Amino acid sequence: MNGQFTVWHHETIGSTNDEARRLALEGAPHGTAVHADEQTAGRGRLAHSWFSPPGNLYISVLLRTGQPVSRAAELSFVAALAVADTVDMLLPRQTRAMLKWPNDVLVNGAKIAGILLEQADDATVIGIGLNVLEAPPNAAYKTTTIVSNAGIASVDSARDILLERLEHHLAVWQAGGFAPVRQNWLARSYPPGAAIRVNSAQGPIAGQFAGLSDDGALLLDTQQGQIRIVAGDVAPASDQAGV
Ligand code: BTN
Repeated sequence: MNGQFTVWHHETIGSTNDEARRLALEGAPHGTAVHADEQTAGRGRLAHSWFSPPGNLYISVLLRTGQPVSRAAELSFVAALAVADTVDMLLPRQTRAMLKWPNDVLVNGAKIAGILLEQADDATVIGIGLNVLEAPPNAAYKTTTIVSNAGIASVDSARDILLERLEHHLAVWQAGGFAPVRQNWLARSYPPGAAIRVNSAQGPIAGQFAGLSDDGALLLDTQQGQIRIVAGDVAPASDQAGV
């Protein structure tokens, strides 16, 4: 047990998210977690694969929060805060994690972790991949690891810290709703007014970061006024490749 979480460890697995979803559909309880040393079919957002060799953290946590499914997307911000805390605790004091909408965790502008939120009936599965030792060699965006930022190279400590921070941020969300999560997330993301580019289904849109709506949509100030974006990827305006 790690606090409220029961961790099932696998040396190798296809995808911890697939296994957690399977367990969810079998009725596994809140707090069931699947941790693997490596994945052979790790999945990222937008049907991308997730680089999953030994040396990194791959974990999926099954949550039955008792809240309406319509609020499940808020959990990706809860998870992002937990991952950011974890990264901060593993890295030297002067190096801080930054959050990028919708749920990437960056260090010095490079992606160090990703979060994949999926629903399995009334359960929510939060899959987290954290690059501890290895970063994907050919990613279309900048990537980094805990070790290359002079951090602590222990996957087990990363897992234990992550689960403790997730328990904390979940409790804040359960007690106070999305507002405190949103406030904390915004404090660790781009400053208001930062020039960003959003790759959305409608194509790239340039504008200034204007924060998050009450339900977690990205607010972007454009020449046509403020728009609300519910799906897409964000990059600094200067970054052609994106993150
Ligand atoms: C992203 O595209 O940024 C999300 C990546 C999520 C990867 C993690 S690794 C553990 C879990 N199992 C998976 O197959 N994916 C998630």
